[in-house]
Amino acid sequence: MTSESRHFSVRFVIGLCSLLPILALMGLLLVAPPDGSERAEWLQFVGRFHPLSVHLPIALLLLVPLFELAGRSRHFPFLLPSTDFLLGLATCGAIMAAGLGWCLARGGGYSGPLVTQHMWGGVSVTAAAWLCWLLRARSGTRGLKRMYATTLIATVGLVSLTGYKGGQLSQGENHLTEFMPEPVSNLLGLTNSEIAATNSPNGGPATFYGARIQPVFAGHCVTCHGRSKHKAKLRLDSYEAVMRGGKHGPVVKAGEPKGSELFHRITLPPTDDDFMPANNKRPLSANDVKLIELWISSGASGTQSVDAIKDIPSNLTSQPVAEVTFEEINPETVARQRAGLASVVAQLQQRFPNIVDYQSRASADLTISASWMGPRFGDKELAALAPLSERIVIADFSSTSITDRSCGTIAAMKHLRALRLMHTRITDATVQTLGPLDQLESLSIFDTPVTSAALPAFSRLPKLHRIYAGATKISANEPMPQEIRDKLVF
Ligand code: HEC
Repeated sequence: MTSESRHFSVRFVIGLCSLLPILALMGLLLVAPPDGSERAEWLQFVGRFHPLSVHLPIALLLLVPLFELAGRSRHFPFLLPSTDFLLGLATCGAIMAAGLGWCLARGGGYSGPLVTQHMWGGVSVTAAAWLCWLLRARSGTRGLKRMYATTLIATVGLVSLTGYKGGQLSQGENHLTEFMPEPVSNLLGLTNSEIAATNSPNGGPATFYGARIQPVFAGHCVTCHGRSKHKAKLRLDSYEAVMRGGKHGPVVKAGEPKGSELFHRITLPPTDDDFMPANNKRPLSANDVKLIELWISSGASGTQSVDAIKDIPSNLTSQPVAEVTFEEINPETVARQRAGLASVVAQLQQRFPNIVDYQSRASADLTISASWMGPRFGDKELAALAPLSERIVIADFSSTSITDRSCGTIAAMKHLRALRLMHTRITDATVQTLGPLDQLESLSIFDTPVTSAALPAFSRLPKLHRIYAGATKISANEPMPQEIRDKLVF
């Protein structure tokens, strides 16, 4: 046997030995895809090494084209011979990572299109790396060279796509865009097109569940209890799913918060093993917990309207704290008042479904409930409301991504009676510009970085009589005029 033919047969054996596990992986994906059920602890144990193991083949596969290019230059010709070894190693690493990935997914808690796409992506990367290895060794002819180059480029593309899907699985579907600075997202033309997609068919936006409860789950729970991952077989991304419960049955017992597993989990001490959200994620705010308690105790309905639950503490409601005066309703007057802005309102209602609404059927005044959109509502979206400024009487921007850049637009909402800015990044700068809001009665800055430097600004607002200032940098004990202290709620 010549050394060349021995070399060939060794390659043949290696090639065959690595092709078999790739085919086996494809078979596993077809006959035993992840189905969400938890099984065999050893699978779960081994699967945990998947994230650790993926980086080696990723790095190697990205190095190959780099070596191929650099190796062709005068300075680094010595790189070229090593690419064959890199490709072989990358293939083995990819087989290993894909196998562990299957263990992780099959071990439980995963199912759905995203994980399937990610897994097929992983197996394709493995197969593509193998093919590159094979083609490179045979790339004697021009045609094969070209085929090798194409396959290599495709492999790098597949690696990126699969990595992105993996990121979506572990960090949430919008993990790359969630904190994208606005100029960049504008440049990329990213809009809020996904809003409609997240509209739950039940627990609609006008319901208490849709407006108050689902956003809490969406913000804190669905990364683990959502479409792609459903730990303990529990999904919290729709009303039906919440009511269906998890692997131990229902987690919500209508009317009985204390008897509901879900409520129990979020009210445990955060250090408890069973505490939710798990893995030391930020606990729910006291307000969120309270809302969930109210929702369960009033029957855990999916259809009850957002203002049906009456005894919400006033800092949790977006209703004005003002006394209600009953006016004669004159439909014509209302229609006339509405006419001027009707087309703008309609346009914005279309752009932001469920965010812009008339305060009541008998009113031309508007309420804004942007908190429903969460971080997808930012300064740019708020600026779009400017034409309606004078008509807005209640505005809820809680948990949105607005910043101090919006202060001008907010200050132009001169008829605001209630303004909720909790869980936002707004600072003293915004509070200090609220001067023109002489109708403002209630302001929530709960969980914002506002400091006591903003206190003097409060006394300039004549009607303001409730300021929810918990979880801010304002301390309940610091010296301040009694007149302000009386208004602060911690
Ligand atoms: C980081 C991932 C993660 C997050 C975020 C998370 N959970 Fe969980 N959750 C789990 C895991 C894992 C289990 C299963 C293990 C256990 O029972 O503790 C679980 C189990 C549960 C269960 C028990 C279900 C059953 O039938 O046994 C409930 C209820 C629950 N979670 C509610 C929530 C709520 C509400 C939130 C949001 C406030 C949340 N979880 C956020 C990972 C998470």
